[in-house]
Amino acid sequence: MPSITFEGHRYPANPGETILDALLRHGALMPSKCKTGSCRTCMVRVVAGTPPPAGQKSLKDTQAARGFILPCACAPLDDITLAHVHVADHEVTLTVAGRHELGPGAVRLVLRSPEPFRYRPGQYVNLVRPFDGRVRSYCLASAPDEHDLLEIHVARTPNGDMSRWLCDDLREGEPVGCYGPAGDCFYLPNDIRRPLLMVGIGTGLAGIHGILQDALNHGHQGPIHLFHAAEPGAHYLGGELLALAGRLPRLTYTPCGAEPADMAQAVKAHRPDLAGWRAYLCGAPAGVKAMQKTAFLAGAAMADIYQVAFGG
Ligand SMILES: Cc1cc2nc3c(=O)[nH]c(=O)nc-3n(C[C@H](O)[C@H](O)[C@H](O)COP(=O)(O)OP(=O)(O)OC[C@H]3O[C@@H](n4cnc5c(N)ncnc54)[C@H](O)[C@@H]3O)c2cc1C
Ligand code: FES
Repeated sequence: MPSITFEGHRYPANPGETILDALLRHGALMPSKCKTGSCRTCMVRVVAGTPPPAGQKSLKDTQAARGFILPCACAPLDDITLAHVHVADHEVTLTVAGRHELGPGAVRLVLRSPEPFRYRPGQYVNLVRPFDGRVRSYCLASAPDEHDLLEIHVARTPNGDMSRWLCDDLREGEPVGCYGPAGDCFYLPNDIRRPLLMVGIGTGLAGIHGILQDALNHGHQGPIHLFHAAEPGAHYLGGELLALAGRLPRLTYTPCGAEPADMAQAVKAHRPDLAGWRAYLCGAPAGVKAMQKTAFLAGAAMADIYQVAFGG
């Protein structure tokens, strides 16, 4: 009889019983609603054992790759250990290893982890200010390497408490708390010929930059069209991206305006048909929402649209 380990307790499951039913029968505190695998209230992460495929059928492939399952939709295949989805993989203190202006509106921070930090480029981390515990999220623009350096892009938000500290006060060598990573907006090398639409809105280019690097590191073969939406004068890394697009015929880089209507117009003009495309959208919520609609109306399947909205 397989057993389920959850929050330090071990529960035996009856043959054919779903993981959720077994946990509830034993009195474990597990949120649930529909019990049919559609609302995702019960989603948990498998940290040891085999994720049952029946529990991943309706999830995004990036969620399945992170070991998430819906325990109401599957029985355990063997002994399995589960954790809540929000339990962080790492909790570390990073130190500032570098700081570079990205034009007038943003700063690139390079942060060193004291230990290997496993993440997928495009995921985000939650940074913690040591002296008051303030927490804000930032997308990872880097790809993991042997130096354990993480890169983030921080916009100077007007009157922004954390962003001002990160952009203007924090000095090299100083500590920043960090837990994470989180988020399901990242590249999966399961279909390297798939055309990819990437839209970074403002410092949403951070996540997109990470996903682009990861796709290229995996030898992605399909076309990639990257749009960077920003206010006039606020596009950054333009020279680097143009030079990269010059060397890689499958990559196209298009800067565009920051208003949702400007982005939608730019994407429609260049890519009117997105059937079969995967879309990665990252940045301000209004822009992400508008681009999700644009991509969907142009033919992209909802399951192929991955997004990170900066709040809202
Ligand atoms: C999943 C996720 C990923 C994120 N990734 C990034 C990233 O890669 N780079 C990045 O720069 N930011 C990112 N953000 C936003 C970031 O977490 C902070 O919200 C942002 O830096 C502002 O925090 P603050 O403490 O400076 O502002 P606050 O002191 O909280 O707010 C100051 C004022 O600015 C407004 N405000 C807050 N956030 C924003 C915003 N994003 N845009 C415009 N106005 C705002 C507030 O309403 C308030 O009026 C992300 C957010 C989420 C949820
Ligand atoms: S309870 Fe709704 S998906 Fe499990």
